[in-house]
Amino acid sequence: MPERREDNLSRTLRAPTIHRQALERLFSFAAQPALRRASRLNWELGIKEEVAVELIRLEDIHKTYHLGEVDVPVLKGITLDIARGELVALMGASGSGKTTLMNVLGCLDRPSSGGYWLDGQEVGSLSADERAMVRNHKIGFVFQSFNLLPRTSALEQVMMPLAYTAVQLSEQEWRKRSGALLQQVGLGDRLDHEPSQLSGGQQQRVAIARALVNNPPLVLADEPTGALDSRTSEEILRLFQQLNAEKGITVVLVTHDANVASHASRVIRIKDGLIEADGAGSVSALSSRR
Ligand SMILES: Nc1ncnc2c1ncn2[C@@H]1O[C@H](COP(=O)(O)OP(=O)(O)O)[C@@H](O)[C@H]1O
Ligand SMILES: [Mg+2]
Repeated sequence: MPERREDNLSRTLRAPTIHRQALERLFSFAAQPALRRASRLNWELGIKEEVAVELIRLEDIHKTYHLGEVDVPVLKGITLDIARGELVALMGASGSGKTTLMNVLGCLDRPSSGGYWLDGQEVGSLSADERAMVRNHKIGFVFQSFNLLPRTSALEQVMMPLAYTAVQLSEQEWRKRSGALLQQVGLGDRLDHEPSQLSGGQQQRVAIARALVNNPPLVLADEPTGALDSRTSEEILRLFQQLNAEKGITVVLVTHDANVASHASRVIRIKDGLIEADGAGSVSALSSRR
């Protein structure tokens, strides 16, 4: 069916790094270059690889809040796939359901009905404890208000999640991993600074390093630049682009700013709890991934 093929092709073009990621997860670093070539060749020859393309699959997701006697339907049937390696902007007017959808994606809240598969696992019906486990290992969160702890150094902020997930590692190793991440986000010389000693943009960088410390395949950012001036916003968006391009991290970011969305390779518009439009973002974002 030509239509189906078109669909697969456009999806692959949107996510050129998918094969690499799937393979990198399976094989050692040393084997990568050859595998990457083989993978590319397969792709060019049109040989289908048996790798699940999508990181996220939502099927007919509904979310209804109950306020006393009143039902408040917020998500009214969201169906979508997000492939590994995509950088997606989620847009929509205030009240359209963006945060509600992000809470479902982040396993912070359960859908009222519908299916949610993350990394091949059905997560929509997990218990609270099981969802916490999924969050710890698979999802990094970045918020508009940074959500850093007061009077705590940047290094300790980033190390914090490891206390739940990496008990087998020594504190020395926690420090090493966290310091390296802060270095990557451009704060190698700010490890000992507390939030009150950092600018807004620097605080958001700490929050991003913290979101990455467990090597999650998915980062969810709800209005990550909402509290930043335009120049700092630009820097933070470039950092997301870089993490997406270099580490292959799948990023979903909520914004109501079209300029922010232009940094994404795909823009999903939501209106009244339904997807209104779903399409490619700017070309520059796509080509900068290579
Ligand atoms: N916990 C809740 N209980 C009841 N209604 C809620 C709750 N959270 C959000 N809503 C309602 O759901 C709608 C969508 O909210 P939200 O997802 O936060 O939108 P957005 O992030 O797009 O601004 C709003 O009308 C809001 O009032
Ligand atoms: Mg919101």
